[in-house]
Amino acid sequence: MKQVFAVFGDPVSHSLSPAMHNAAFSALGMDCVYHAFRVRPEKLENAVLGAEAMGFGGLNLTVPLKEKALKLDFIKPDPLAKKIGAVNTIVFGKDGEIRGYNTDGPGARQALLDTSVEIMGSRIVVAGAGGAARALTFQLAADGADITVVNRTEERAVELAKEISAAALPGKIRATGLSGLKGLLRDADVLINTTTLGMYPNTDAAIATAEELHSGLIVFDIVYNPLETRLLREAKATGAKTISGVLMLVYQGAEAFRIWTGVEPPVELMKKTVLEALQA
Ligand code: ATR
Repeated sequence: MKQVFAVFGDPVSHSLSPAMHNAAFSALGMDCVYHAFRVRPEKLENAVLGAEAMGFGGLNLTVPLKEKALKLDFIKPDPLAKKIGAVNTIVFGKDGEIRGYNTDGPGARQALLDTSVEIMGSRIVVAGAGGAARALTFQLAADGADITVVNRTEERAVELAKEISAAALPGKIRATGLSGLKGLLRDADVLINTTTLGMYPNTDAAIATAEELHSGLIVFDIVYNPLETRLLREAKATGAKTISGVLMLVYQGAEAFRIWTGVEPPVELMKKTVLEALQA
């Protein structure tokens, strides 16, 4: 009998995770299937316990359930997920324990490592202070980066920086409003956009333009719809290296796959599957 894996979210119908994981299961000859289920926040408890009762192999959680999962005391978060305050991967342990992980941070880290970024000591500007920024900055601070969080609502950036400082991670952390961005970029090694600027349908927007970027920068946009955002076009125009949000999507999925199965997933196939789905 096939083992079932799933993503729970609301909305969830556009999730690329089923295509990505089913391609991986099929290529590895694993008798598993991955489905998307629309689950409302107030039904999350029932849905997770139901999945466990039915012997599901593991779960992903997406908007708006990632933060909610930490409020369910039967889900034991790992230390990083607990600090981030969000769970995107659930494992049903053989010991009966239900464990929660956050693979968004590791996914972003792997996307940077792919482009040969030495995270330790790198001056990284993170634009945005929402859920994605939280996952990413906790991970990068744990890896020793020198981070400045820049956000339209400055207090939100300050709050995130405070939490990261309190976690006593090896990296450095500062916060500022958007007006500080231009000056910071001159001396930065990496710019990561976690804001929704540039995301469909606002494809003309970008957190920075070519004049504010430089050829020594690595520009990583976690937005993957469109595949090439205006920010990445502006970055290319200056000769900067770019990293597509597709990589973070694929690597967070690959990390979840490892956690559930202990098997190394076919990452290139997962990437190809996601790119094909986005171009369809
Ligand atoms: P997610 O969980 O996906 O990170 P989010 O929590 O809604 O999403 O965060 C969206 C981020 O995009 C926030 O940092 C938001 O800035 P505010 O905290 O000031 O709202 C940022 N953002 C959205 N629209 C923006 C815009 N037009 N200009 C600048 N930043 C914007």
